[in-house]
Amino acid sequence: MPSASRTRRRLTTARERLVDVVDTDVLVWEALKAPRAARAQLEVELVELRTTEDVERVAPPEHAAQAIPFVERGDQGFAAVADGRFAGWIWLSRASHRDPWSGLNVRLAADEGYAYALWIEPELRPKGVARVLMVAMLSAVHTDPALTRVYGWVDRQNRESQMLLRLLGFKNVQSVKRVMLLDRFGRALPRSDRPAEGPLSRHGRHRTAMAAEAPVNPLLLGDPL
Ligand SMILES: CC(C)(COP(=O)(O)OP(=O)(O)OC[C@H]1O[C@@H](n2cnc3c(N)ncnc32)[C@H](O)[C@@H]1OP(=O)(O)O)[C@@H](O)C(=O)NCCC(=O)NCCS
Repeated sequence: MPSASRTRRRLTTARERLVDVVDTDVLVWEALKAPRAARAQLEVELVELRTTEDVERVAPPEHAAQAIPFVERGDQGFAAVADGRFAGWIWLSRASHRDPWSGLNVRLAADEGYAYALWIEPELRPKGVARVLMVAMLSAVHTDPALTRVYGWVDRQNRESQMLLRLLGFKNVQSVKRVMLLDRFGRALPRSDRPAEGPLSRHGRHRTAMAAEAPVNPLLLGDPL
């Protein structure tokens, strides 16, 4: 028969798996200087993704299905292809919206972008592919006169991603706790945003700029923090 302490431990683990509270950092890259060029350890072709056809041409079906809403929102994808095969991607959005998986609401001013969905196929890590993709995305932000900065969020425990973003010059701008149910349904823990003015806060980071320049489509947003 399991001991009382072992039963307690099992119950705690089951509860943790059911509901998880995740510390999340929001980082910003200011588009002041062009990012330093990067090379991967394998030959990588970069492909820009704007349409469903672009996505379906490059990505396997399970990835392509995930990206349909990205394209519909008008977001721009940067994909890497190695030896004719999909190697990974990152997406850039210019629209305030709610990320359906994490439940986080990202609120952007007119001159702000948001990078998300960075993914490299596991067998191609770590060979520098993410860095090449990030540099391509940041170069696009830098050369776009309408953009002055780009945000991204990353779990505090995600060592690889934390390292990558910081090496590229991203800096902390906010932190938030998000709650995950069964690792499937998420939302921000109310009032966990620190500071309370940031891209994951009710009014975004640049309240005046948002009000003046970037009307937010309320249909794209979920509950405020
Ligand atoms: C995070 C991720 C995108 C990195 O992709 P990658 O192609 O392996 O990364 P790179 O080879 O370009 O590495 C770039 C930098 O990231 C950091 N890094 C990557 N893998 C690392 C590891 N295993 N340990 C420590 N640092 C690592 C390093 O700083 C590295 O720079 P260096 O090569 O000068 O040391 C990849 O692991 C991934 O897809 N993870 C799952 C999805 C995910 O976490 N996405 C990010 C959400 S915010």
